[in-house]
Amino acid sequence: MDLIAFLKENDMLLFFLFTSFFALLFIKLTFSKTIKNLPPSPPTLPIIGNLHQIGDKPHISITNFAKEYGPLMSLRLGSQLLVVASSPETAMEILKFQDRSFSSRFVPSTFRQSSILPYSLIWSDCDQTWRTLRTVCRTELFSPKAMETHSRVREEKISDMLEFLRNKQGEVVDIGELVFTTLFNTLSCIIFGQDFIDLKDEHETHGGLKDSLENILEYGGKPDFGDFFPMFQRLDLQGIKKGGLKQIKIVFSFWEHMIKERRSQIGSSAWSSDQANTLLDRLIEQGFSDVQINQLATELYVAGTDTTTSTVGWAIAELLKHKEALSKVESEVMKKEMNFDKITESQLSELPYLHACIKETLRIHPTGPFLLPHRAQETCEVMGYTVPKDAQVFVNIWAISRDPKIWDDPLSFKPERFLGSKVDFRGQNFEFTPFGAGRRMCPGLPLGVKSVELILASLIRGFDWVLPNGDDPSQLDMNDKFGVTLQKEKPMKIIFKPKQQSLVA
Ligand code: HEM
Repeated sequence: MDLIAFLKENDMLLFFLFTSFFALLFIKLTFSKTIKNLPPSPPTLPIIGNLHQIGDKPHISITNFAKEYGPLMSLRLGSQLLVVASSPETAMEILKFQDRSFSSRFVPSTFRQSSILPYSLIWSDCDQTWRTLRTVCRTELFSPKAMETHSRVREEKISDMLEFLRNKQGEVVDIGELVFTTLFNTLSCIIFGQDFIDLKDEHETHGGLKDSLENILEYGGKPDFGDFFPMFQRLDLQGIKKGGLKQIKIVFSFWEHMIKERRSQIGSSAWSSDQANTLLDRLIEQGFSDVQINQLATELYVAGTDTTTSTVGWAIAELLKHKEALSKVESEVMKKEMNFDKITESQLSELPYLHACIKETLRIHPTGPFLLPHRAQETCEVMGYTVPKDAQVFVNIWAISRDPKIWDDPLSFKPERFLGSKVDFRGQNFEFTPFGAGRRMCPGLPLGVKSVELILASLIRGFDWVLPNGDDPSQLDMNDKFGVTLQKEKPMKIIFKPKQQSLVA
């Protein structure tokens, strides 16, 4: 988001266009109606507003602004108005009391594609399409009954992961890659009834499916000039819209033939509804079109894999860095009552310290530091200020979960703070909303949490974790990288040494 860096990186044509439209834009902004009573804002430059002050770590720069300009502030990103809520009270206004008015999305250009936007769960406004998709997801994927039905698939995929690690004795493993593949295959089995990526095939990645999904996320996280200056939107100067659509189409093409094949089986007289055992079957039976199925599957992969992988990676890093916490969670999962070979989902409720570690990880490293961008559907009053229609709205959960007024010693990893505490991430405690709250809250929470718990418990139970080159875990680099999700900047690479059964307490 650093305009200067942006201009340096792009060619002269862009610069020429920028300067030619400069005067026109200046006139437009100068004579446009000024909105009174906006939330406080840092001083802005003409045309670019605060763009030059955002940098490549917006969660940090915007949090620093909030310290000066308060829990509800506004920033100008070019001609786009951004309103940021940075306290539990302002978050509650946006996500609870005025949830209806703020439940629309600000859609980044990668996803603002007329051919797919009408079918989107993540980027649609809360219209009938969105309601239907949320209902399908709840019924078929995330309800207690659906979660129970799919528990065997999740356990199987994690067994594959553990088997893979046992065969990798002494070798350095990028745990992010491995967890990503495991989650990807879990979702693939639930949606399409088959794996798409071979765990051993670390580099081939099923002809690029994984790469294409990662590219979609990459395009989605790129700051787009057209978002800040909508008059340039149609030109797609950085090629973000075009590039994003190309990747989305590549992803669709991977399973298109499966949809066709299944559709013809389901249409035949030999088909009986008892045979429907994947999400694909259910969607076809319920009359979903190919493009609707393509879009929903892609969004489930995009929303479900990176978020969960990143949470596991951060939890591993924090536990390695905090030996005491690791040994406490280790003695919990090494209890005699736990099945040594395979921890099952039914055993997870017996691991309160592990749950506390996961909450603490999500507090310090929320995968979406601003949630996904919301948009004001109409002009609203919040805390006595005016938030105009179509303003982009961020809830800065990164700032809230590091606020010393709310959390004791907020920068330290202390899972104990959650033991015996009623504070939970289910959208009722506005000081801690890593999954959001209100109608746009993450529908995948049950799957995300179960997966993180089961993967971590299994990795702790099965292996000792050692850093390559004898690196000291207390010195682990915890820098983050801002994108669609807040990732660890350096991938988490570990040697997994199988534990001996005799260690069981
Ligand atoms: C640890 C794991 C996860 C975290 C931390 C997480 C977090 C979030 C957050 C912060 C949002 C935005 C809420 C808002 O804008 O108010 C969200 C939305 C969403 N998440 Fe998750 N998520 C996780 C796992 C998953 C999984 C496993 C899936 C599905 C397979 C999923 C599917 C979605 C979808 C579809 C949305 C958009 C909902 C809407 O706009 O109505 N998430 N998630």
